Order: sequence, then C-alpha cells, then structure tokens
Amino acid sequence: MPSVPLNHMEIAPFYWFDGAISPRAEVSVDPFAHGLHYGTGVFEGVRAYATPRGPAVFRLREHMERFARSAQVYSLKIAWDVPTLCAAVLETLAKNELESAYIRPLAFFGEKTISLAPSFYCPTHVLIAYRALGNYFGAGQENGIRVTISPWRKFSSKALPSTVKASGHYANSVLAMTDAVTRGFDEAILLNDRGEVAEGTGENIFVVKDGVLRTNDRSADVLHGITRASVIELARDRDVPVEIGPISVDDLHDADEVFFTGTAAEVTPLACIDGHVFSNARPVTLALREAYLQAVAGDDPRHPDWATFARVASGV
Ligand SMILES: Cc1ncc(COP(=O)(O)O)c(C=O)c1O
Repeated sequence: MPSVPLNHMEIAPFYWFDGAISPRAEVSVDPFAHGLHYGTGVFEGVRAYATPRGPAVFRLREHMERFARSAQVYSLKIAWDVPTLCAAVLETLAKNELESAYIRPLAFFGEKTISLAPSFYCPTHVLIAYRALGNYFGAGQENGIRVTISPWRKFSSKALPSTVKASGHYANSVLAMTDAVTRGFDEAILLNDRGEVAEGTGENIFVVKDGVLRTNDRSADVLHGITRASVIELARDRDVPVEIGPISVDDLHDADEVFFTGTAAEVTPLACIDGHVFSNARPVTLALREAYLQAVAGDDPRHPDWATFARVASGV
C-alpha cells in the first residue's frame, strides 16, 4: 500500500482508544471528563521517521516506560502493559498508512465526579493519536531560533513532579510560550524558583563552552528528556566531554553554543537569547544534530535498538 503523507498539522484518520483501533469519528470523550477540567492526564510525544526500511519509531520502549511511570504518579490505571502499548503504537501507525508521524499517547481520567481524588471514582482512558509534524520550529530548527527568558518561573518539583509528563503541568509552558510569541520570540527559557536555568517550554537545554557540553538534571526541576539522554550518549560516543550540573543565566551568556533538545525540537540551535546573539559557527551543535538525525533513522550502528521499524499496512 502506498503511504499517505499527512499535510502539516493534519490529524491521522485512526486512533487507538481503550484497546481498539477506531476511526476518529467514533471516538468520543464525555464533556465531564476529569482530565478535560483539571488536566489529570499524562502523555508522551513520540516520533516515527520515514526511512528506506519503513517508518522508524524512535526509542518507543523508553517513551512508553516513561508514560507508565507518569501514570503511576497520578494513580491512573492503565489496563495495558508496556509491550502491549508499544504494539498498539505500531499497529495503529500501520493502519494509518503513515511513513512518518508525531505520535501522542495520552492517558486521562474520564467522567464520574468533580472530586479531586479522581482515582477513586473515574475510569482511565487511553488514547494514541497521530499527526504530521515537520520541523516544530520551522526553518529555525536548523538555522537557530530566537529565545527569551520568560517572566514565568518553572514550577518547583516541590509543587509538581517535573520528571512526570502530565497534562496539567503544561499550563506553565503555555503561559511562557504565549508570552514569548506575543513578544516576537520563537521560544522561552524558564528559570526555576531559585533563578537557575531550568528548560524550554518543551525542551531540555545544553550549553557548550570550550568544547565541553553541559546540561542540568532533575535537581533543576526539569523533565528528563529522552532526546537529552540520547544526545548525552551521542556526545560521549564522539568523545565530547559532558558535565551534568546547574546552569546559570551567566553560563548562557558566556556559552559558545546553546541548543535545545526534544522529540519535537530534535536538536535546535539558539540564535539569540533576548539581546544576546550567538555565533553562527556551531560545530558541536551541528555534529550532534547530524548524529541525532542519523540515530533516529536507525543508521547509528552503536544504537541499533533505538529505532523500532514498523512496516506500513500489511507489511507489519
Ligand atoms: C518540559 C519538557 N522538557 C523537555 C522535553 C524533552 O523531552 P523528550 O526529549 O523526551 O521529548 C519535553 C518534551 O517532551 C518537555 O515537554
């Protein structure tokens, strides 16, 4: 079967919903779903890349393991184990006849109550949806994006667990991104409540200084990104020294290169932060971006297990 490329922002025709593949028109959610009102859901963003060997899903197992861990923290009861969810992702990708996609698994509390202890009353629904996604940041994804330091602070992990990818947590990102776009920027950097650099609204951050790569960790109130972990390994493979520790605003200004990592952003260089402009020469960022794009296509012999190949339609 020929693959059907989705136009940018287009949503694929089939969902996986509560255990079965269903056409979009047949999937409905009660207007009183708890997740809709209170953000009581957890999700993942996963990418499938088009390759000559068929669609390659990047680090599927790791994404679904994080999904299961996130669900546990919010007492969402997902009725399927990780291998079953991975198979569902691949099967529905094939059903949609997609060569590449942005894949969005979502588990959320459904209808029953307005109680703020939904796990005692509400069913857990699980949805896997697919859409097109090219460069999240358009041309800036390759050439560099314009970023501002947000007036909004990243929520403290004492308030919400930053390593959990929960729907409600993203209200923080929405405020920061909306402010950034309103002021003419592509993205925001959030500082944590101690004034250290935390992360982007949907990305981890790395700085390069004198050939050394540095990124922070959960102690700076960030999500432990799967792209972040992959880029750290790719750097070590290439003998680029990596330090894990806090990053200050001064470190950003003093850096030779700064880049974001994320499933949507991949490896995106920063062109400037507010009035501070970085050099266009970004040797470390470019090398790691290239290495990452090679790895997601399943072409890095050091990491053959990072890509799961899913043949379209009957080829699965
Ligand atoms: C707040 C935040 N930080 C970091 C990331 C990067 O995570 P990953 O590389 O797993 O996509 C994301 C994206 O999911 C995010 O939303």
